[in-house]
Amino acid sequence: MDYYNNIMLYYFNFGLVVLALVAAAAIASVMGFHLALFLFLASLQVTLSQDIEHGSLLVNGARPKAETGDNFICATIDWWPHDKCDYDHCSWGYSSVVNLDLSHPILAKAIQALKPLRIRLGGSLQDQVVYDVGSLKSPCHPFQKMPRQVGLFGFSKGCLHMNRWDELNHFFNQTGAIVTFGLNALRGKHLSSNHVWEGAWDPENAYDFIKYTVSKGYKIDAWELGNELSGKGVGACVGVAQYGKDLINLKRILDVLYENSRFKPSLVAPGGFYEKEWYDKLLQVSGSGIINVLTHHLYNLGPGSDGHLQGKILDPNRLSRVETIFSNLSETIQKHGPWTTAWVGEAGGAFNSGGRDVSNTFLNSFWYLDQLGIASAYNTKVYCRQTLIGGNYGLLNTSTLTPNPDYYRQLMGKKVLGVSSDISSSFLRTYAHCSKDRAGVTLLVINLSNQTHFILNVKNPVTVKSNEVAKNIHKEKNSFFDNLKKTFSWIGTKGSEVTFREEYHLTPKDGNLKSQTMVLNGIPLKLTNEGDIPTLDPVHNNVKSPIYIVPLSIAFIVYPNFDAPACARH
Ligand SMILES: *[C@@H]1O[C@H](CO)[C@@H](O)[C@H](O)[C@H]1NC(C)=O
Ligand SMILES: *[C@@H]1O[C@H](CO)[C@@H](O)[C@H](O)[C@H]1NC(C)=O
Ligand SMILES: *[C@@H]1O[C@H](CO)[C@@H](O)[C@H](O)[C@H]1NC(C)=O
Ligand SMILES: *[C@@H]1O[C@H](CO)[C@@H](O)[C@H](O)[C@H]1NC(C)=O
Ligand SMILES: *[C@@H]1O[C@H](CO)[C@@H](O)[C@H](O)[C@H]1NC(C)=O
Repeated sequence: MDYYNNIMLYYFNFGLVVLALVAAAAIASVMGFHLALFLFLASLQVTLSQDIEHGSLLVNGARPKAETGDNFICATIDWWPHDKCDYDHCSWGYSSVVNLDLSHPILAKAIQALKPLRIRLGGSLQDQVVYDVGSLKSPCHPFQKMPRQVGLFGFSKGCLHMNRWDELNHFFNQTGAIVTFGLNALRGKHLSSNHVWEGAWDPENAYDFIKYTVSKGYKIDAWELGNELSGKGVGACVGVAQYGKDLINLKRILDVLYENSRFKPSLVAPGGFYEKEWYDKLLQVSGSGIINVLTHHLYNLGPGSDGHLQGKILDPNRLSRVETIFSNLSETIQKHGPWTTAWVGEAGGAFNSGGRDVSNTFLNSFWYLDQLGIASAYNTKVYCRQTLIGGNYGLLNTSTLTPNPDYYRQLMGKKVLGVSSDISSSFLRTYAHCSKDRAGVTLLVINLSNQTHFILNVKNPVTVKSNEVAKNIHKEKNSFFDNLKKTFSWIGTKGSEVTFREEYHLTPKDGNLKSQTMVLNGIPLKLTNEGDIPTLDPVHNNVKSPIYIVPLSIAFIVYPNFDAPACARH
């Protein structure tokens, strides 16, 4: 029995799109279903042909094209104090490593909901942090605002007290967070000229700090050295030869301090902006096996103050431009450091704390989800979003801790599948992964266009004869309905009985792209009265029906029984 529950229709009304859910009567036979769908589409075709682009997506489930890490999703907690301001706006509140309220119930629930969430502790001020432990002879005071010429980034050195470090580790243990800690790489160095820092890294304070951490049994998954000091640097930079030596030094320290420990943490570096020569050289000068993870930062939307952020986020060419960074980095690793893997150590879209009323709204999801898709396709193992909380780009609201719209993403597994499409519009962006923790395949479909409607058929070449693939992947407007009929037999596992797919359509509340409320399948998402993250319920559609996606929306489409050998579980 093949029940056809309901189908989502999109009505076009003077350019506005109104979503209607039409509950159709259950149709008890596949033939009946075909006929109803055919008639429905035919009527749509007649009245709305101008606004619709039909197309096919071919998802290659034969083998993965790339793979992310087991725990891909990561978010950062930064060091910025409450008086860090950009463009006359102070967006950080009390959200830093040293002052975030760890007892806030929503904070723990949010981290647990993404379990396991990776958290990276780091950011611009990490290279000015002093750890109040061991044989420290210098004073340990909180960050203080200073004239830009005196303090790096306009702040003095800051202090991490060990009682705070204890609290943080207790919190990470309770919430199951997997932690990367960014160490101060400038300690012992001196400013030589024009933000170039010279001299060897003084590891003593870091040594005492890591020793304390190990002695307490705190599990730090990865130790990172330095923040944005590579290449031309941001506030400061360090020559690549010296950086290599400093890393060798840190590796030696980790080897000594973790000698009796079963767990060996990763060494992560350099956490800067990718520059080919510098990154190539770093792997060469540090040498085989020193760096476990090569990290890079991405801020491809420009400054947070830019009035054209919305246009940039919705510009497919701008979104795609980061691909050259990912592909060059892959080449760097292949050629010079096959022992490393790549992480995006920090990415916030717009820099200087993000864009007000942009980075914390639905709009930002187009940038974020698209970038997760691109990063995955280039074998990025971890992607750290700036920030979990703090600035304008936090996943959680700094004052209320309510999740901002981009928070939702729990469906895509680690294996990335190739997906090709006959749609010429660059505004339709699709990514496919094996589903997370279950069989089948999940698609991420992003529609950046405000004009074109797409009606999509998903095809599986595993169950298509290769000549048919070749024929049908080309745009054949007139034979759309023929293709549609053929497609029916190509989706899902051959001979499988129940063939529904699950759909999660995300839109902003009231159609306002700058809304802070995300709407899932027509229902605004809100925390429950107990402060829990709401459950994300899909709508079910017949696997054989085409996918409809409204303008300026994002959809996750889960095919529970898509025949994909790449996703076979052992
Ligand atoms: C929390 O700490 C306890 C005691 O050290 C340890 O057994 C447990 O594995 C830790 N849990 C996590 C998630 O790190
Ligand atoms: C990537 O590599 C190409 C070829 O070496 C170079 O022309 C280009 O500038 C690089 N792009 C980035 C972003 O590194
Ligand atoms: C947090 O939520 C409040 C109340 O909804 C809102 O006014 C504020 O702009 C939000 N802050 C951020 C950083 O999203
Ligand atoms: C649609 O997007 C284009 C740019 O892609 C923009 O110029 C135009 O103003 C937008 N139209 C509406 C109604 O938002
Ligand atoms: C994309 O959005 C446009 C309008 O912005 C809409 O007409 C089209 O149906 C959408 N396509 C998809 C696949 O969502």
